[in-house]
Amino acid sequence: MRLKDKIALVTGAASGIGEAIARRFAQEGATVYVADVAQAAGERVAAEVGGHFLQLDVTVEADWSAAMQHIADRHQRLDALVNNAAIISNASIDSIDLQSWNRVLAVNLTGPMLGCRAAIAMMRRNATPGGSIVNLGSTTSFLGLPNDVIYTTTKTGVLGLTRSAAVQCARQGWNIRINSLHPGTTDTAILQGHIAQDPSMLGRFNAMSPMGRMAQPREIAALALFLVSDEASYCTGGAYTADGGLGATHPGM
Ligand SMILES: NC(=O)c1ccc[n+]([C@@H]2O[C@H](COP(=O)([O-])OP(=O)(O)OC[C@H]3O[C@@H](n4cnc5c(N)ncnc54)[C@H](O)[C@@H]3O)[C@@H](O)[C@H]2O)c1
Repeated sequence: MRLKDKIALVTGAASGIGEAIARRFAQEGATVYVADVAQAAGERVAAEVGGHFLQLDVTVEADWSAAMQHIADRHQRLDALVNNAAIISNASIDSIDLQSWNRVLAVNLTGPMLGCRAAIAMMRRNATPGGSIVNLGSTTSFLGLPNDVIYTTTKTGVLGLTRSAAVQCARQGWNIRINSLHPGTTDTAILQGHIAQDPSMLGRFNAMSPMGRMAQPREIAALALFLVSDEASYCTGGAYTADGGLGATHPGM
């Protein structure tokens, strides 16, 4: 029960890594708000974990205000936020159109900024001020994906958002820790779409990490749990990977 009595909000929690995080947080005693644009799947996950579904589009400022008000009315506090929702574009620098660029930028980077801003304001008003925020990056925060320029750009941006916000919170003495979590290839819908189109991608995704397999969502959730828990009390502004050694690999070796 490492999150006993804590109130947590996870975006994009209707599937994949976000769903696994919601499940693990609930198992560890948290009251979990499953926030997503996908209502039916979100409500199912919320019911299964004994939590609550929130219809929240991370790009919409008013949705963040409504979500914070909803949680404040019921609990008067928020202890943890995981900015997990993200989308991909599959467009390279020579093919991307402005509409796709702006949409992925809005979901993957503006969304986490709005989430950090809203959560920090609420965490500062907690009876005992403080909290923990985790922003989902990727191995593409450190390594370029040629076939997705905007995904790579937003995931690199998550590093800057996390560092700036974390240092501000620490220097102001707000007792709010903010870290980024960088998964390697993980077996979720984002990749299953590619595999359905081209079955040979399964072998390529597995081979990307020296461990020779993709991560399971629960293996990413375990790191998110550590980062929001009180055990991570000296961790802020950090970038934490769970990538099976992918980022440590010399290309071609
Ligand atoms: N799967 C991987 O290999 C992998 C690798 C590195 C990083 N990540 C990161 O992990 C996170 C989760 O990815 P996943 O693989 O579980 O993806 P997923 O597609 O399974 O889940 C994403 C969820 O986000 C929701 N969502 C999309 N747009 C939204 C919006 N505007 N507002 C609210 N919710 C929205 C979707 O409905 C979905 O439930 C993402 O940040 C992703 O970039 C994934």
